[in-house]
Amino acid sequence: MILLTGGTGLVGSHLLFELVSGGRKVRALKRAGSHSELVKRLFCWYDPENGEAHFDAVEWVEGDLNDIVSLQECMKDVRFIYHCAAVVSFMPEDRQVMMKANVEGTANLVNVALLNKVKKFCHCSSVAALGIPQKDNLVHESLVWKTSARNSWYAISKYGSEREVWRGAEEGLPVVIVNPTVVIGPGDPARSSAQLYQSVKNGMKFYTSGVTGFVDARDVATAMVQLMESDIRHERFILSSEDLSYKELFSLFAHYSGVQGPKYRAGRFLSEMAWRLERMRSFMTGQKPLLSKETARNANIRRYFSNDKVKKALGIEFRPVSEAAENTSRFFKKYPVYLSPDFRMPS
Ligand SMILES: NC(=O)c1ccc[n+]([C@@H]2O[C@H](COP(=O)([O-])OP(=O)(O)OC[C@H]3O[C@@H](n4cnc5c(N)ncnc54)[C@H](OP(=O)(O)O)[C@@H]3O)[C@@H](O)[C@H]2O)c1
Repeated sequence: MILLTGGTGLVGSHLLFELVSGGRKVRALKRAGSHSELVKRLFCWYDPENGEAHFDAVEWVEGDLNDIVSLQECMKDVRFIYHCAAVVSFMPEDRQVMMKANVEGTANLVNVALLNKVKKFCHCSSVAALGIPQKDNLVHESLVWKTSARNSWYAISKYGSEREVWRGAEEGLPVVIVNPTVVIGPGDPARSSAQLYQSVKNGMKFYTSGVTGFVDARDVATAMVQLMESDIRHERFILSSEDLSYKELFSLFAHYSGVQGPKYRAGRFLSEMAWRLERMRSFMTGQKPLLSKETARNANIRRYFSNDKVKKALGIEFRPVSEAAENTSRFFKKYPVYLSPDFRMPS
């Protein structure tokens, strides 16, 4: 039996589909009140004929990373764990809950895995956990984390989370870790990287000068399964297809959705103004800010990612980002309801 956390999220739902459509038995951890309707839609998107049956084959169990008893209760016969659950946020108000879920929650899961002598643990980390390159802006797996005011709280939480997994490895848990760049695919447009598509569709006018890596959610899922089912232990792998500027990514989304892409470049000055104005708007309206200091600053950074290690280990070929953008745009063209501001996910 396989246990998967984060199955209702962007990465986890793609991984769940990859596992179940390949005939594997999966127990998926889901918080009380979290939504799986979009997961079912996604299964049918990728396999119109058998999607519903695959979805019904998932054993959903209720639990929370912060509730160690709930984790222990779903461990019966579990041999393999895929850990995709985390809070992904750059908003200051989410810091505490993010640190608790990502660091303490991962420690809880690792402890339960050790207690139950799990055969292998595949952890979804992030390139954010690798830290900031000192020279040439090239990020690779052997980068050493350095404390810096430039690290976002999300990065700090993912670094702390990864450290718990390495601690588990020291205590005897076989682990493998993936560090994806920005993941592109159909997912809840109100959260995580799926928000990028929503912004373009909403007619965003500005782009920033940042460059980063992007990867298709389907390729993240494939690589995680291949790594889990290989003999590879105690290694981490960057999962990235291509480095693109945000302008290039937004233009792809705009092209496939038939809308106009952002036209104006927002330099550092404008970005710094924007997050301050957004904070003021949020304070006055009580609405969630659309931009934070960390998102504004990240959006202007240029970073490049090496995918050599995973290509060599698995022989994997990544889909071009244009394919990921097209898949995402086609999904939302077919199901525009998810983009409506009034839409609420049914449980
Ligand atoms: N998206 C990216 O660009 C990207 C890039 C690199 C790495 N990653 C990593 O990939 C993983 C998945 O991210 P994502 O993009 O799929 O995020 P997401 O769409 O926001 O999904 C997050 C998932 O975590 C679950 N979760 C959050 N807190 C939890 C808790 N306390 N207990 C149990 N489950 C909890 C959520 O469940 P609910 O449905 O109940 O909220 C949801 O299933 C994360 O580890 C993230 O750091 C993502």
